[in-house]
Amino acid sequence: MTDYIKASLETHLFFARIMKEHSLFLQAGFMPPGEFYKRKADWYRRKWEDFLRRVVNVSNGMVAEDVLCSGEIVTEFTEKAERQTSRLTGISIDSAITEAEHRLRAGCFRQENAQMMHRVRQLNDEALQLVCGLIELKEEILKEVDSCRLFTANYPLLIEHIIREAKLYYATIDELNQSGELSKQCQKTMEAFWDRIMMEHALFIRGLLDPSEEKLIETADGFAKDYKKLLELARKKDSCTMDEMTRKTLEETIKYRDFKAAGTEGITDCKISSLILPLLADHVLREANHYLRLLTPESDCTRGR
Ligand SMILES: [Fe+2]
Ligand SMILES: [Fe+2]
Repeated sequence: MTDYIKASLETHLFFARIMKEHSLFLQAGFMPPGEFYKRKADWYRRKWEDFLRRVVNVSNGMVAEDVLCSGEIVTEFTEKAERQTSRLTGISIDSAITEAEHRLRAGCFRQENAQMMHRVRQLNDEALQLVCGLIELKEEILKEVDSCRLFTANYPLLIEHIIREAKLYYATIDELNQSGELSKQCQKTMEAFWDRIMMEHALFIRGLLDPSEEKLIETADGFAKDYKKLLELARKKDSCTMDEMTRKTLEETIKYRDFKAAGTEGITDCKISSLILPLLADHVLREANHYLRLLTPESDCTRGR
């Protein structure tokens, strides 16, 4: 019961914020003819914001320290990035949620009771419904964009990318609801998923930097190539155990996380010229922090917060 509650809340704390921000990125990317989709994205953004607020309200003392300190829930840049993104897009963002997340404390997992179990089950069912709807919306938008009937400032690959992230969220909560816990995932499958995500972030960053930012473009391109190589190497492995590959991936991802953190700082300080929303920079940084936690199950809490 404790595992179910803890794993569910930890998953929501990371992914519900991710979904809320995907909705915002979609909403911010449309021109006036895309008003219909802009309004739909806005509806999901509000729903996720409300959902995340309720998750945070029940999470104090219910989640593990390594998740809270990983920098996957919030980072030192999140509040500033939200303020700036809200000002730049005109979309309101409830920063009280972010403040409450910074105040969350880890638990000793003795508070399990039937009431909490019921509450978490309700949250899980609600998340499954919401994420299902959001996946449909993202797929509809991608179809329209691919057939040149709709324009958005978001790359088609970014829309495909955020569909994959939403599907992983769905699969995780669905597994928790079906079996009460998360099975130990095949390392190779997990790394293949997140290496591809990391590679695509580098491609987005490379393409959204101002052409004058030659050095940063070169560095982003280098990361895209490195992850491409890691993906090719991992594909050749025929077992689930990675060891040497995982070590290489970990080293690469630590460097990459530092690059993203410096990038987020540069963008929020207006020192980098780009088309990257400050919250998008912080968003990809949090996803790298999440991946780092998955790569280091016994993490030492030196990151993020
Ligand atoms: Fe994302
Ligand atoms: Fe991503």
